[in-house]
Amino acid sequence: MSNFPSDKPVLVTCGLPYANGKCHIGHLRTYVPGDIFVRSLKKQGQEVTFVCGSDAHGTPIVVNAEELKITPTDLVNKYHKHFDSIFKAMEVEFSIFGNTDSPTNHSRTESIVNALIDRGYVYPQVIRLAYCPHDERFLPDRYVEGICPYCGKPARGDECDQGCGKHLEPGEIKNAKCRICGNPAQYREQEHFFFKLSSFGNFLSDYLKTLGGTANAINYAKIWAKELKDWCITRNLEWGVRFPGHDDLVVYVWVDAPIGYISFTEEWANNTGGDWEKYWRGDSRIIHFIGEDITYHHCIFWPAMLKGAGYTPPWAVVASGMLKIDDKKFSKSRGYVVWVDEDYLDHGFHPDLLRYYIANYTSHTKELNFSWKVFQDKVNNELVGALGNFLHRTQHFTHKNFGNIPDGRVDQEILDKIKATLETVILAFDEYEFKKATDAMMELAQYGNAYFQSFEPWALIKKDKDACARVLLNCLQIGKALILLFEPILPGNMEKAWKQLGLPGDVHTARFEDALIEIPAGELRVPEILFTKIEDKKIKEMEAILDKRTKIALSKEKKHEAKERKTEITYEEFQELDIRIGKIISAENIKGSDKLLKLEVDIGEKRQIVAGIAQSHNASELVGKQVVVIANMKPAKLFGVESRGMVLAADVEGAVLLMPEKEVKEGTRVR
Ligand code: MF3
Ligand code: ZN
Repeated sequence: MSNFPSDKPVLVTCGLPYANGKCHIGHLRTYVPGDIFVRSLKKQGQEVTFVCGSDAHGTPIVVNAEELKITPTDLVNKYHKHFDSIFKAMEVEFSIFGNTDSPTNHSRTESIVNALIDRGYVYPQVIRLAYCPHDERFLPDRYVEGICPYCGKPARGDECDQGCGKHLEPGEIKNAKCRICGNPAQYREQEHFFFKLSSFGNFLSDYLKTLGGTANAINYAKIWAKELKDWCITRNLEWGVRFPGHDDLVVYVWVDAPIGYISFTEEWANNTGGDWEKYWRGDSRIIHFIGEDITYHHCIFWPAMLKGAGYTPPWAVVASGMLKIDDKKFSKSRGYVVWVDEDYLDHGFHPDLLRYYIANYTSHTKELNFSWKVFQDKVNNELVGALGNFLHRTQHFTHKNFGNIPDGRVDQEILDKIKATLETVILAFDEYEFKKATDAMMELAQYGNAYFQSFEPWALIKKDKDACARVLLNCLQIGKALILLFEPILPGNMEKAWKQLGLPGDVHTARFEDALIEIPAGELRVPEILFTKIEDKKIKEMEAILDKRTKIALSKEKKHEAKERKTEITYEEFQELDIRIGKIISAENIKGSDKLLKLEVDIGEKRQIVAGIAQSHNASELVGKQVVVIANMKPAKLFGVESRGMVLAADVEGAVLLMPEKEVKEGTRVR
């Protein structure tokens, strides 16, 4: 028996994207299956509200806005619009796409935090926090970089992102450095507020026994629930939701972000006359679609918070596996990324193709690899070769030879096959097994092709026109079923196909079970081709874009590494440097550059040297000064001016030149 339709109100959410960067295929691994699932519920007659929105707070957004010299609000609005339009273009249809900086979310967060305080789940504690004496500020989360205390890998702020993946509490990170100025941080004491997560152990262990969703989430959560640490829920920041009664503190972003799920439901209810409390205060089914990396927040922290404040905790948590690009770990900095706008939609690819790939490549909880080659194969063999081909040849042949859908009854064998497929599909959706569901659909398309082929209607029509009509009617019935089944995956193309077949009503609101209602006789149109093959040339072009991006990233990384690398050298290696004392004979600015000076230096012989010290030094004041010069640099041209040597300076803002302790003869060797 299927879980749906249910009498209980059903709410589906997708993890909120940070409004801090563009949408890539990795994001879609949550949103596309979420949308497919919601459409599949509607097809089972389930009323469902589907909410999502921008995650507007947290330090990465503040840091990024500071770097771009814009306000966090402007940054958030920009990416909010971006995500909203990408979701629309990808046919991900939320009931509402909100923003956690909205007034509703500020007040809902305040009210939940107050409820937790009133019920004794929040307590103050003085803790040691990273503080930058240079910038005179505390360094919350992403403002601090250092070493993970658990695994020793480099970590940033609140998470060990390159090592063990653990959440780091404020003050936990080792060798803390300020991210703004790079100076070592100090530790200072300050009062912060903690959520008593540790007192929810019993609740969570019972709760996790009943929580639905995918095993990858629940099993981890069960282990974590055995060892709960309290959470510091305040931060020294301006940007965020104020912690009640403390103007210098905001709540940690992981408090107000999930509360966004509630606020957006409220906003949706206000817009549509719906009721938000039936979801969040009543007996409901709240289903969270998330990426596997935020399981802890959704299966531990969030249910405890809801329970503590008197709200309904989630009914299921569905966690998607991670994404790879060309079998390499997804990484923006290393160039292993496929942007949804510039790398996909802008090239004219239909959203349905990528939706199918995401649903069908592998099980929802496994790692999904995206490669253009596999994309091409799946589109050409499955969508074009199996589904598109079947729908087209059936309709085309019928139209050409009969002009309309033949009168008659569909064979029971065909209806049975459709029914069996339907059951498999619905059970697979119940288990969030989108691959199983789409495989069963594709299998029906293959069955249809084999059926058509085996009766050879092109020959049959000459021998027995009535028999041929029956075969075609059966095929058209399979076609109708395929359109209904595939609608959640391929909403755009199935809408077209539905209209082409002349079927009544709206394919998006039609039910799966309508697949068993026999197709009525009627006029048939010439079908348009739905899916077309992707040419090798196009795939090569797409691969070249990715290739170029990873190459650029690699060369940047190499340069950076070379700069950072400081291996030990021998005295012999050191001796390869020809370091000498020189006297500046003349100095002048270089036209067109505000950084460079052209120097003439006497190092026992005259040398022209270009130095990047124009912003810190006046040309005229340099004349007569002695400096330290590397004399055997390979000649280089800067702004068209030849430079044969390098003047040494301490690498700080406003370069500080190295000079001998007292005057020595020009050309004296330095060792
Ligand atoms: N913005 C977070 C992320 O991308 C997800 C927030 S989900 C919510 O990891 F539950 F907090 F809303
Ligand atoms: Zn600093």
